[in-house]
Amino acid sequence: MFGFYTLSLMSLRPEDASPDEAQAKFGSWAIPLVYLGQIGVHQEYQRGHGIGSTLMTHAFERTLEIANLAGTFGLALDAIDEDRAQWYERLSFDRYGVEQDGRIKMVCSLNIIKQALAS
Ligand SMILES: CC(C)(COP(=O)(O)OP(=O)(O)OC[C@H]1O[C@@H](n2cnc3c(N)ncnc32)[C@H](O)[C@@H]1OP(=O)(O)O)[C@@H](O)C(=O)NCCC(=O)NCCS
Repeated sequence: MFGFYTLSLMSLRPEDASPDEAQAKFGSWAIPLVYLGQIGVHQEYQRGHGIGSTLMTHAFERTLEIANLAGTFGLALDAIDEDRAQWYERLSFDRYGVEQDGRIKMVCSLNIIKQALAS
């Protein structure tokens, strides 16, 4: 196995930190999101083979499929550190908050996912 990722579903309560665009769209409603809980590439193949980026493209496609069946704002994740956050930014994610343990909360909206897949 070269790598893997996991997806689940989550929602942000109105009182949680959340992306401005999502707040504008959902108002006082909870914001539904697909959540990428884990992504990992086999140590031998990390950095430079493009496997993590390919896995993320697959996760983007899956998120669009889910969005066709049930409402979602986009794909969210928590980056474990600044280095990872910068990698996710290269893949079109934006920051929208920080967890108490320091993980960086990030999101990629459906519009951005569509643009990323089209480019
Ligand atoms: C993070 C991870 C999934 C990235 O996948 P990858 O296959 O190594 O990355 P890719 O080959 O697709 O992309 C690498 C590119 O991003 C850059 N990059 C920047 N920060 C990086 C980082 N933390 N990890 C990997 N690449 C990083 C590399 O320099 C490289 O640039 P280049 O294409 O210009 O050479 C993988 O390194 C991994 O499994 N790491 C351990 C587990 C982990 O950290 N998971 C995420 C927890 S939030």
